[in-house]
Order: sequence, then C-alpha cells, then structure tokens
Amino acid sequence: MNLARRTMNAPALAAVYERAWRPTLFYLASGRTTSADRRDAVTALRLGGEQKVLDIACGPGNFTRYLSDRLTGSGRVVGVDYSEPMLARAVVDNAGPRVGYVRGDARRLPFADGTFDAVCCFGALYLIPDPLAATREMVRVLAPGGRIAITTSHRGDTPFGHASRIVGGWSGLRVFDNDTFPALFTELGLVDIDQRVHRVLQYVSAAKPA
Ligand SMILES: C[S@@+](CC[C@H](N)C(=O)[O-])C[C@H]1O[C@@H](n2cnc3c(N)ncnc32)[C@H](O)[C@@H]1O
Repeated sequence: MNLARRTMNAPALAAVYERAWRPTLFYLASGRTTSADRRDAVTALRLGGEQKVLDIACGPGNFTRYLSDRLTGSGRVVGVDYSEPMLARAVVDNAGPRVGYVRGDARRLPFADGTFDAVCCFGALYLIPDPLAATREMVRVLAPGGRIAITTSHRGDTPFGHASRIVGGWSGLRVFDNDTFPALFTELGLVDIDQRVHRVLQYVSAAKPA
C-alpha cells in the first residue's frame, strides 16, 4: 500500500480531515474553498427533491451530509468508503435523517444497475488502484437521466501541472491528463460533459441520457 493510501486509513487523519486537512490541501491544489466545492456539487448534480444519491469515497461524510440537506421526503444520500476510521468519523460527525454509510470498494459497488439519480466521487479517484473501473461502476449504478460529478487530479502543461507530477509520483497519487475522463464519459454514452480545471484539480460532470 502506498503512502497516500496508508494515510487515508489512519485514524489521526480521519479526526482532522474535514476541518483542517481538506480545506487546506484542496485550497492549495485548486484555489477553491470547500464551501464553493459543495455549492458547485449541488449544481453539477442538479440535486433536490426525493433523489437517491451515491457519494463514492465519502471519507468522513463531509460532502454526504451537506448533499443530503438539499433533499426532501424520501430523498437519501449513501456514502461509500473502504476506510473504517473515515466511516467511524462520518457516523459521529455527519449523521442525518437522509444519510447512510456503507463500507465498500468503489471498484465493486454492491448496488444494482441504475439505482441512483446522482453519483459523485470527490478527491479520491487518484487514490483508487483502478480508477477507470471505479468510474465505470459509478456510471453503471447511475439511472437514466441521472447526473455524475467527479473531482480529481489534472496534469496540465503549467508549473502547477509539473509540480503535481512530482508530488504524485512521490506519494503514489495518480495524476490524470485532460482527456481521460471526458473521453471515458463519451465512450460510456454520457452527454452534457462539462470539465473545469482549477490549478491541479479537474471537475468533470455529465448526464446519462434519459
Ligand atoms: C481524500 S478522501 C475524500 C473524501 C471526500 N470525498 C472529499 O472530497 O473530501 C479519499 C477517500 O477515498 C477513500 N477510498 C480510496 N480508495 C477507495 C476505494 N477503492 N473504495 C472506496 N473508498 C476508497 C479513502 O478511504 C478516503 O476516505
């Protein structure tokens, strides 16, 4: 297991992830605040009403509960993560009436095809050993007409891009090029593909045709 994956399994990281680790590192990586990322996630996924939402690699539930607060009635968000310390933190810090947490592997999701109206995966595809298989799984469990949103690393031909290659290689984080996710989404039949790059992170969203 590489340094990045070991770090994600550490109880000490789970304790500080939401309040200190994520706001600091993601701000350095993208120039964006967690509040802006949360608001944009709601917009990209077109959240609202009684949707069923899946938050892959949810960590301590720092997006999961926020997204669930945008739903009503029987709307639910399920957070999936493989790290026990992260899920223990999620249950303590981010429980709610429309939230549930499941331990699982993003590469083999325990859900039937087309279960969810929206699926997201923020800040994790660069940690997952087979990120494209995990992305295919997300699209598999997405219902026709549903939306998907991911945030992951981006390799640009800029000083930030060159720095990300060095840090990525050293820590075991994978750095994706500009075309990987738009091309995969197109291959999987998704439409309305939108990609935004902020420093060394890319934000990609799309829809499954109804
Ligand atoms: C940096 S945290 C992201 C948390 C949250 N989504 C966010 O954006 O702040 C990455 C999470 O990915 C999880 N993870 C990594 N590989 C995974 C896999 N194969 N299946 C499920 N979760 C995984 C880790 O346990 C960790 O909690």
